[in-house]
Amino acid sequence: MRAMLCTAYGPPDSLVLRDVPRAPLGEHDVRIGVHAAGVNFPDLLIIQGLYQFKPEPPFAPGGEVAGEVLETGPAVTDFVPGDRVIGMTRWNGYAEEAVAPAHRCIAIPASADMRVAAGLALTYGTSYHALVQRASLQPGETLLVHGAAGGIGTAAIDIGQCLGARIVATGGNDQKLQAVAAHYGVEHVINYNTEPNWKDRVRALTHGRGADVICDPVGGDVFEKSLRCINWEGRLLVVGFTSGTIPSARANLILLKGCSVVGVFWGAYADRDPEGNRANLQRLFRWLDEGRLRPLIARTLPLAEAAVGLEMLARREVVGKVILTTDRYEGGHA
Ligand SMILES: NC(=O)c1ccc[n+]([C@@H]2O[C@H](COP(=O)([O-])OP(=O)(O)OC[C@H]3O[C@@H](n4cnc5c(N)ncnc54)[C@H](OP(=O)(O)O)[C@@H]3O)[C@@H](O)[C@H]2O)c1
Repeated sequence: MRAMLCTAYGPPDSLVLRDVPRAPLGEHDVRIGVHAAGVNFPDLLIIQGLYQFKPEPPFAPGGEVAGEVLETGPAVTDFVPGDRVIGMTRWNGYAEEAVAPAHRCIAIPASADMRVAAGLALTYGTSYHALVQRASLQPGETLLVHGAAGGIGTAAIDIGQCLGARIVATGGNDQKLQAVAAHYGVEHVINYNTEPNWKDRVRALTHGRGADVICDPVGGDVFEKSLRCINWEGRLLVVGFTSGTIPSARANLILLKGCSVVGVFWGAYADRDPEGNRANLQRLFRWLDEGRLRPLIARTLPLAEAAVGLEMLARREVVGKVILTTDRYEGGHA
């Protein structure tokens, strides 16, 4: 089977498509014939040796796949060959076959397109965990979503709307923000590059109160300004640092706002509470089946063009997600 291999830490264009032997299958593992794989920001970091996990090359990046079960380890009782599943693989997902422990696999509804399913786990799983378990977002609350055009951002908007929140979305590019506003019907979008005093607009939009929940995958200056436009008892979710700057929180602002700065680490949550994570994803797939979620796929590329997708992420060109497909996927590329 073929995989897009990182043979030494480096940029996206150093990935190579190679024939590799099948990975061994553990007692509790599921082997998935991959139809589609999601491309995520952590993939960009992991191939450069900049992520919290540093697998020894050669390895393939790719933390999420969708496909059909090919075989199961002897202790697996939940799945049989032929089942449609997603698998959360951490890495090795950019491949024609992937192995994931059964507790990191979820059945997907017959109605779900494999590309949509492949892109749901990391971003929607993280944003759901952030908004529900970490922030306890309530209907009618204002949710401020930073980096709104990205994978985490679009998922946070989609889920926030399902939970009945009022959305204010920020980003660094007007065209991307307009695409997000059009797709999700978001009324208030703010460009944090061209409107440096965006925190004042957030305050104005919330009648001086500030946002109740803030989802921040960007960090840096965006995080620091967030503490100046958060409501009393607000929850500021620390999700990531795409700006490249890990900010410091001023403790006096946290005190004055009576707010919480809340860490979000979905991968660790999924390991510590696999049943909770499975229930979250099952709920997301139910919402998808009911037509309540509207994931945005920016581009579908064949597996061999994974570097193109990663470079699009690095250049901040993506609105929603990039998805890779293998020859098993029956739809086309778009
Ligand atoms: N905590 C967790 O459990 C968890 C789980 C998954 C992902 N993450 C992290 O969450 C972050 C976002 O992931 P994602 O999938 O949403 O990524 P993404 O799709 O690439 O989106 C990130 C957004 O960040 C913004 N951004 C601001 N400065 C940037 C810069 N210098 N370079 C690139 N983007 C920049 C971009 O929006 P503009 O161009 O509009 O500014 C972009 O839309 C990453 O750091 C990822 O590692 C965390």
